[in-house]
Order: sequence, then C-alpha cells, then structure tokens
Amino acid sequence: MTNPEIKVLVAEKIGDSGVDLLKQHFDVTVKTDWADGELAAELGGYDGVLIRSASKLTADVLEGATNLKAIGRAGVGVDNVDVPAATKRGIVVANAPQSNVVTAAEHTLALLLALARNVPQAHAALVAGRWDRSKYSGVELMDKTLGVLGFGRIGQLVAERAQGFGMKVVAYDPYVAADRYREMGVEKAETSDDVYAVADFITIHLPKTPETEGWLNAEAFAKCKDGVRILNVARGPLIVEEDLVAALDSGKVAGAALDVFRTEPMTESPLFGRENVVVTPHLGASTAEATDRAGFQAAEQVVAALTGGAVTTA
Ligand code: MLT
Repeated sequence: MTNPEIKVLVAEKIGDSGVDLLKQHFDVTVKTDWADGELAAELGGYDGVLIRSASKLTADVLEGATNLKAIGRAGVGVDNVDVPAATKRGIVVANAPQSNVVTAAEHTLALLLALARNVPQAHAALVAGRWDRSKYSGVELMDKTLGVLGFGRIGQLVAERAQGFGMKVVAYDPYVAADRYREMGVEKAETSDDVYAVADFITIHLPKTPETEGWLNAEAFAKCKDGVRILNVARGPLIVEEDLVAALDSGKVAGAALDVFRTEPMTESPLFGRENVVVTPHLGASTAEATDRAGFQAAEQVVAALTGGAVTTA
C-alpha cells in the first residue's frame, strides 16, 4: 500500500518498471531535467532518491538533504555519490551491480569493432557524399592481443566476447584469483606494465577511485606498443585526456574509442573531430534491457531501505 508520507524522487531517466514499483509504496516525483544547484535545493524534501550517473551527490549536496534516508543508484558505479558522507548521515546507498554488465561489455565490443574498422568515420563520409574506400581500410581483430585492465564482471564479459573474434586476451587485476584466468584461457598479467608490453588494443574496466584516476597517463602510453589502440567504457578520469591527445598526436597511440570523459556532459574536446577517435556520449549502460533492470533493482533497494527490509549496500 502506498504511504504518501514517504516521498521519493526519481532524479534521472530510469525504466518504467522501477518507477511503477516505487509508486506502489511511496509518493513519487519524477523529474529528470535539473538546472545547476536545483537538485541540491530540492533534495531536502525527499526520503529517498533514485539517480544514474549524472547527479553528483557530494557531501555539500547531502548536507541539505536532511530527510534523505536512501539513495538508489541505477547502475554499477557509485563514484557520483560521496558514500562516506552519506553513511555518516545515516543514508543508505545501494546500487544495482549486475544490472548492466552485459550491456557495458557489448558496447565495448561495438566500439572495438568500430575502432578497428573506422565504421563511424566511413559512415559520416559516405552520407556526406564521399566514397572513401581506401581511406577507411582497417585492421583485423583475429590474432591481435587485447589487454584488459580490471578483470571484474565487465572485463571478463569483454574478454569472453573478444575471444570469440579470435583475439588473445591478457588481463591485469590483482583481486581476481589465478584460477579464474585459467578457466577463461586468459593470460594473467602481474602488473599493468605487462599488459602495455604486449597489447594491440587496451580496454580499461576499473572503478574510479583515488588510486585508479589517471591510470592511463603519459608514462603508461610510453610503455605501450607503438600503434596501440585504447578503449574506455568505464570512467573518463581513468585516462589523462591531455596525455592521450599527445600520444595520438605523436602516433604512439593509433586510435581511441571513448564512451566516457573527464567531465560530463562533454561536447567540446581536443579528442573530438579526429579521424582516429570514435566517441559516444556515455552509452555504455544504455540499452532498454539494462535501463529497465538497473531502475528496477535500484528501486527494490530503495523500497527495502525505506520499509525496513534488507538492502545490499554499495
Ligand atoms: C554505471 O555505473 O552502471 C553506468 O555508468 C550507469 C549510467 O549509465 O548512468
């Protein structure tokens, strides 16, 4: 039964099934377009909030959220929430960790193929009236080495799919047991330098933390094979964008495919408009299926948190 005393805000676009579930329990407001500072000003009126990655729930924002008891993050990462500040205020932060891993892995493969075969550039040229066949000749994936930095759920799904294209996979992740690499037929790198030394393509699937920020920087690029291609469908700040631009300029890096950026939304960048850089606007988790699953699972967590049920916290 709906309790109109409990107010929940859906602050970003999530699937209808999640919104419907919340409506069965609470008084729900759906509002997805926010001016600067507006969310912070309104959050104080709510007991629960559902977000994706655009809302930044910093300590300052949470300071004013005096009634807030639960934050549901419709997705994997919780780096846009100051979890320690929320916990200090007694606010439960819950995510939907399995909801979009397949979708993210599939987008990585989409970008891998697009990068190898110049699909977006060739499409743009042809619809602009240019039949540039020789300009957009690409490279095969078969027998190339894919380096995976971060061999968690998404990294492993990417590896499995890349093996389907005949790629050799070498992965770095000290938190994954050696058995898992063996089971998957993936070479275990002891350090990320071991990945840089052999990879033709590198895809990064690390969470964004103070330790991982700037993981791929000038020093890392210098250790890579000449002509390496870089993919990022995880978080923008994992790559030092200026260093990537320099490595593209020098030819050390032959191409990049990026779904995420240092700040988002990002509409102007020295990385844009280059023939060898493929970009998408943070679409890694954006499929009908994942949006629905993530919204529903995050909504379930918010319901549990606000009705005294068990929550799997982030
Ligand atoms: C995630 O962390 O799962 C995604 O970045 C979610 C999103 O697209 O908002």
